[in-house]
Amino acid sequence: MNSIEFAESQYRYFSANDLFNLLAAVAVLGTGFARTWWGIKGTAWYWHQPLLHLKLTLFVVIGLLSIKPTLTFLRWRKHLNAAGQLPVEAEIRQARRWVMIEAHLLVFVPLAATMLARGIATR
Ligand code: HEM
Repeated sequence: MNSIEFAESQYRYFSANDLFNLLAAVAVLGTGFARTWWGIKGTAWYWHQPLLHLKLTLFVVIGLLSIKPTLTFLRWRKHLNAAGQLPVEAEIRQARRWVMIEAHLLVFVPLAATMLARGIATR
């Protein structure tokens, strides 16, 4: 496999990886809600915690931020399949920046989760 073929296979893989991320996000959301219903501290307690709302807000914001890169990956794959064209550098840089912002916001989600579970900054 030469470097162009390798790049092509990587760009095709992006969309599959993105779909997997979507399925994982749905599973995380489902298990998160389930923990508020069946968690030991009771539904009312969880939903009165600002940290839970922070977590959920971050989760939703990250989800919304991921729309643009997802559409970009789909467009890249379409161009690759139709015309054998790889994305230009400016587009790659832009997509990387969006994913980088998402990744940095994601760090705060388990932080909020652990504080919530340990009763730090809860009421
Ligand atoms: C990327 C997203 C998420 C990550 C990485 C994450 C991570 C975690 C972790 C690591 C814990 C265990 C904390 C500990 O025992 O120290 C936890 C607990 C929990 N999560 Fe999430 N979570 C996410 C999304 C959500 C969402 C969307 C919800 C609710 C809508 C949610 C609700 C909860 C609840 C209720 C607990 C139990 C807290 C407790 O035991 O007091 N999580 N989460």
